[in-house]
Amino acid sequence: MDAQRWKLPAIIAAVILVGGTLAGILWIGANKLEGTPGFFGPAPLIADINLALEILLVAGLTFGFFLARSGNIDAHQYNQTTWVLLNVVLVAFIMAASMQDVRPAKMADFAEARIGITWLHALAGSFTVVSGLWIVLQMNGIVPKRWRIKWWKNLMRATLAGYWIVALGGIATYYFWYVG
Ligand code: HEM
Repeated sequence: MDAQRWKLPAIIAAVILVGGTLAGILWIGANKLEGTPGFFGPAPLIADINLALEILLVAGLTFGFFLARSGNIDAHQYNQTTWVLLNVVLVAFIMAASMQDVRPAKMADFAEARIGITWLHALAGSFTVVSGLWIVLQMNGIVPKRWRIKWWKNLMRATLAGYWIVALGGIATYYFWYVG
């Protein structure tokens, strides 16, 4: 496959998906629509958008894993870069701000399922985001040579597992916030 031929369409798709999501979140915020009813049922709109996009991106990252396995390394690079950046937008513009709703007043508050699960999710999520971002920067030649991780293939596998585990933790978070 001619990698150069796919580079421009891949960049355009990434800009539309990541930029479009960011613009959508900012628009929802500017019009104070975050709290309006969502489309899955009990949760507000912004949580349902987050949930739907996180499920889509974990599926997309998993698809990208198979692209690499089948030798489509350039497609793998473009694909993973897009989903990792989408995740960064969701963390920075939806999830980080929501942490204020689970601020513990005392240590014992972590025993409360909603608070404890959300913090565990946020901790594992932070490691996964940093690791995903590092791999993407290395993949795209932005990390200086001396900082490049040699065992990055194993790091990629562990990070993909991280996205799965954190997304499942996110579903548990959703449950304790809006259902249970
Ligand atoms: C690999 C990275 C991550 C994935 C795949 C992920 C996935 C999810 C999913 C699927 C949900 C349920 C939808 C929702 O309730 O909005 C969720 C909720 C949440 N996540 Fe994450 N997450 C990640 C990283 C993080 C990080 C780094 C933080 C903290 C800084 C965080 C904090 C939260 C919070 C507070 C919620 C509840 C948000 C709300 O409903 O308003 N997550 N996450």
